[in-house]
Amino acid sequence: MITLHDKQFKPFLKEQQILDAVAKIAGDIARDYKDQVPIFVGVLNGSFMFVSDFLKCYPHPCEVSFVKLSSYQGLTSTGIVETLLDLPDNIEGRSVIILEDIIDTGRTLQELVHLFSETNVKDFKIASLFYKSEIYNGEYSIDYFGMEIPNKFIVGYGLDYLELGRNLREVYELKKPKMINLVLFGKPGAGKGTQAAFLKKAYNLIHISTGDVFRYNIKNETALGKLAQSYMDKGDLVPDEVTIKMLQEEVEKHPEANGFIFDGFPRTAMQAEALDHFLESKDMQIDATIALEADDQELLQRLLKRGEISGRPDDQDEEKIRNRFAEYTKKTAPLRDYYKAQGKLHVVNGIGDIEEITDRLHQVVKGLQEV
Ligand code: IMP
Ligand code: MG
Repeated sequence: MITLHDKQFKPFLKEQQILDAVAKIAGDIARDYKDQVPIFVGVLNGSFMFVSDFLKCYPHPCEVSFVKLSSYQGLTSTGIVETLLDLPDNIEGRSVIILEDIIDTGRTLQELVHLFSETNVKDFKIASLFYKSEIYNGEYSIDYFGMEIPNKFIVGYGLDYLELGRNLREVYELKKPKMINLVLFGKPGAGKGTQAAFLKKAYNLIHISTGDVFRYNIKNETALGKLAQSYMDKGDLVPDEVTIKMLQEEVEKHPEANGFIFDGFPRTAMQAEALDHFLESKDMQIDATIALEADDQELLQRLLKRGEISGRPDDQDEEKIRNRFAEYTKKTAPLRDYYKAQGKLHVVNGIGDIEEITDRLHQVVKGLQEV
């Protein structure tokens, strides 16, 4: 693994794989142009290494020149393409073959085609060592390419991240920061809401509260909302599959998320299993289950105080509160065992100042990032 500026990159292509791709393009072009003397036009800066190795593989007479354009800043194409080094002036009536390091959105290519459309070249072809076919806009055909690659950001072999990495012999891909997916549970009054808000902000996570998701789907009469309602109308529990589907849709709304906090689900070991299956299908997993704990006496006092302020009837009656505690203990005990067996259960003391508890949670999440 290597670090360039603030980002980490992991190996993607070995030197030999790259050289094979270069040799392949050179072979293809040599076959088509053996009876001519083409001018190869490298696109600076990224293509300097490719052009050099390409020419060493190219077996027939040829000329070489360069243009310089700029479109990338950091990790994404800015869309603004500038000409920094203009066209060679001896290209009239010649066969020109552009040598690009990589074709991404195709904006740079568009500008190149535009530049050359104002000249009288005999013919004009495009060759790119790497080609991100998934995101290329497809406006012009790519005549030759060395290797199709998935839509990831790569560095090395001429390609840079903020100018670093061009000198690497191998190609590396951007390593996405590790996702953090948490299940949060705790008795009423344990401070779940407060701490979830903190975790969400500190680690840029998406908070999925099952209660909210349910209410949203029912209120907006989504297909799943209606389905859930149909069970509730009959007085039946909503089956886990329906709940999981709702969560799935929530997760899918955030493909770029750094991670999720699941709150209010799972409530049983069976649901935990269903959640694991679903996450597995997305190449994700629960990294930690955090149980915020406080003794009943403390929680009781907190809730009664909250009840006084909010007027919530279920927070005002000691009997009802104790029932909710008992219910929680009974239901979550097997859940705790389930996550404990996976080595993912983290019991966090929920008594103390809010900042103190927050700090305990910090320690748990920091530990996850280090592995
Ligand atoms: P396009 O205009 O979006 O097709 O981008 C083409 C230019 O963006 C290339 O010539 C590179 O300079 C740069 N670029 C595209 N993808 C990458 C990448 O994965 N790593 C580094 N630079 C890239
Ligand atoms: Mg380039």
